[in-house]
Amino acid sequence: MIQLKDKYFETFITADEIRKEISARAQQINEDYAGQHVVFVAILNGAFMFASDLIKEIIVSCEITFVKVSSYRGTESTGRVDEIIGLTTNLRDKNIIILEDIVDTGITMDKIHKIIELQKPRSLKICTLLYKPSAHVGIHKPDYVGFSIPNAFVVGFGLDYDELGRNLKEIYQVKELKKAENMLNIVLFGPPGAGKGTQSERIIEKYGLVHLSTGDIFRANIKGETELGVLAKGFMDQGKLVPDSLTIDMLKSEVRKHENPKGFIFDGFPRTNAQAEALDHFLTEEGTSITVLLALDVEEQELKSRLKNRAEVSGRVDDANPEVIQKRINVYVAETMPVKAFYQAQNKFIKINGEGSVDEITSRLFGAIDAL
Ligand code: IMP
Repeated sequence: MIQLKDKYFETFITADEIRKEISARAQQINEDYAGQHVVFVAILNGAFMFASDLIKEIIVSCEITFVKVSSYRGTESTGRVDEIIGLTTNLRDKNIIILEDIVDTGITMDKIHKIIELQKPRSLKICTLLYKPSAHVGIHKPDYVGFSIPNAFVVGFGLDYDELGRNLKEIYQVKELKKAENMLNIVLFGPPGAGKGTQSERIIEKYGLVHLSTGDIFRANIKGETELGVLAKGFMDQGKLVPDSLTIDMLKSEVRKHENPKGFIFDGFPRTNAQAEALDHFLTEEGTSITVLLALDVEEQELKSRLKNRAEVSGRVDDANPEVIQKRINVYVAETMPVKAFYQAQNKFIKINGEGSVDEITSRLFGAIDAL
C-alpha cells in the first residue's frame, strides 16, 4: 500500500498487466488501420506514459501530437469556452485516434471530440487506457479500451492525485479507510510514575478501547509458549532487549485478533523513534493510524515521590530503589522523549498536565479526547 497526501492506495493493475494490455490494443489498431496513416492526439498530462508505450508497438504509418484541454469563462452569451492548446497539426481528412489515460464521466472527452470534429477529420476514434462505464454519462464511448474499471479513484502510470503519483509503474486504487474514520487509537505517553496505568484503565472504560501493553503482550506470549514468545524469551533470557521487529510482530498479531475494535490504547509503546515508524507503517497497512499521543507531564521530583509511595503499596522492587528510578527516568528522557517529536511533526501530540488529583488528570484527558 502507498500513501499520497491524505489518501491510501493499493495495487490494482500491475505493470505487467498494463504492458500486455497496451500491446493488445496496439495490435488491434495495427490491424484496423493496416495500410493507412494515423494521427494520434494524446491528451496531457495523464496520457503521456500510455501514449509513449502504445506508440512503440504501432507499425502502421503514424504521427503523434500532444495537446492540453483548457476551459475558461467567455462572454455572458458564450458561457464556458473549451479549447485545445497545442494543436498545430492539421487534422483535416486524417484518421485521428485520441489517446486518453482515463474516461470517467466522459465530459472531457465529449468536449475534445467536439473540437476535433470541427476540423473535419476522415475518421475519429477514442483509445483510452482506463474506462469507468458506471460513471460514464457522455455521448462518445471509447472505441479502444484497455481496462474497464469500477467507479473508484485510481492513480499511477500517468494518472495523478493532486499531481502526485504520475510516476508510478503500476495503477493503484484508492483504499477506503473505514477503520481509520471510526477508530480512536491513542498512545499514552509519560515517564515512569506519570500515571499511565491508572489513567489508561479509565480511558479504556469510557471509550471502549482495547488495551495494548507491550509488557503484558510479552508475558502472555511467553506464558502461552507461542512462536513469538519463544523467540522473545531467547533474547530476554540472555539479558538482551527484544528487537523492535519482534516487538512489532507481537503487536501486529495482537491487533489483528480484534475484529471490529473501537480503537486501541498503546501503553508503553512506542518507546523509540524506530518503533514509532514501524507502528505507523503497520497501522497504515491495517487501514488505520494513530489518532493522538497524549503525554502526561509530571515534574521529576513529583515522579520520584509517587514511585516511592507506590513501592510501599505495590512492593514493586523497581520502584523502591532511587538509583533504578533515576535510571528509568534517564532512559525515558534519552530514548523515549524523541518519540514526542515524531508525533508532533504529524500534529498529533497533546501535552496533558499530569499533576493534581487522579480525577483532575482524568478529566483533562477526557477533555482532550472529546475535543479531537
Ligand atoms: P471525465 O470525468 O471523463 O471528464 O474525466 C476528467 C478527468 O478527470 C480525466 O481526464 C482525468 O484527468 C481525471 N480523472 C477522472 N477519474 C480519475 C481517476 O480515477 N484518477 C485520476 N484522475 C481521474
